[in-house]
Amino acid sequence: MIIKGEILSKSFKGNGYIVIKDGLIKSVGREKPKGSVDIDAEDKLVIPGLIDMHAHFREPGYEHRETIETGSKAAAHGGVTTVVLMPNTNPALDNLETIKYVKKRAEEIGLVDVLIAGAITKGRKGKELTNFKKLAEYVVGFSDDGTTPQSFKIFLEAAKLAKSVNKPILDHAEIEELSGGSMREGNFSRLYGISGIPDVAESIAVARDVEVARYTAAHIHIQHLSTKASVEIVREGKKRGIPVSAEVTHHHLIFKDEDLKDRSPFKKVNPPLPREEDQEELIKGLLDGTIEVIASDHAPYSLEEKSVDIEKAPFGISGIETLLSSLILISKRHEIPFEVLLEKVTCNPAKLLNLPLKGDIKPGYKADIVILDPDKEWRVTEKSLFSKGKNTPFLGKRLPGVVEMTLKEGKILYRGD
Ligand code: DOR
Repeated sequence: MIIKGEILSKSFKGNGYIVIKDGLIKSVGREKPKGSVDIDAEDKLVIPGLIDMHAHFREPGYEHRETIETGSKAAAHGGVTTVVLMPNTNPALDNLETIKYVKKRAEEIGLVDVLIAGAITKGRKGKELTNFKKLAEYVVGFSDDGTTPQSFKIFLEAAKLAKSVNKPILDHAEIEELSGGSMREGNFSRLYGISGIPDVAESIAVARDVEVARYTAAHIHIQHLSTKASVEIVREGKKRGIPVSAEVTHHHLIFKDEDLKDRSPFKKVNPPLPREEDQEELIKGLLDGTIEVIASDHAPYSLEEKSVDIEKAPFGISGIETLLSSLILISKRHEIPFEVLLEKVTCNPAKLLNLPLKGDIKPGYKADIVILDPDKEWRVTEKSLFSKGKNTPFLGKRLPGVVEMTLKEGKILYRGD
């Protein structure tokens, strides 16, 4: 198969041709190779398939919100070819049987690559550690996502175990004792009369994580950073050579606490949407490399679950289908080159998670490729989303960037009309 178009990847930029054979990229070059062009993507961007390091497909246990099948279709529609699923299913992904079930189901569906974050503690209850040695072979990292062990001792032990099996901890950094509101504490939470979550609920946990990474030399990847203080702590940690990495979601880069004026449960997310100064620092962190990854934290809920007052609604935004379009929006709004943002959803997560042959358009790599029309727009509607989760603040809005085609290992997973 030959694809022609404007290639944008770490290894190759500009107009060119990609030759694909047996699911792998055989060559990438500016000269037209022998044979006819199968996919002519002239005037469109040809980019690596996205790697979404943080998503929830809800199966088993919460299939009314999403299934591995609907989540996989949503991913393909969003240009995502590899996802890392978090363990907050029911039962939790804390045992081999459930992890193997999810992997088998994903293989049967045969769309995107589904990778797993195994739970740190049994039932994600923060008390008893899972069997890291046994799970290591089947997971890309360990997380109690939605929460983190509140015990210093257990978290320290978890980091030592993660180090011993050479996997990262993917940490949802939150001190629960300090948390418990519905939006970020600040002038706007007071103005709108919505209960506030102070930024220290996150930053104290981030400081703990950095210190634990220093002491154990384990790689701790901090999920969805949302405060200025957290970015500063991670930046300092990195300067000191501590093995920490960090992620931000696209919604924390686009929406702010002041946007909660409408009390929309669709904007209730954990961690909460940032204040202006937090968002500015998140952008700085993206630019100076403190934050290597952008992820969706795709958290689908049914409309019934979200159709309640903000104080009662569950936390979460359905995001895997709006991630790529959001990068275009962020690039325009903050004047960040699109390719800088693209690295945060392709080669950077591949490197952090040690996924060989993914995240770049390069000979020998998997032919996971997306054809994107950055100049076209699409409307986010209940109908246009493949996910069961329609809980996105983008609902009804137009977004730039239309995924025309998603290929995984040379096979077309999704084709727009
Ligand atoms: O908003 C969130 N939703 N944050 C989390 O940490 C968990 C997620 C979910 O699973 O719904």
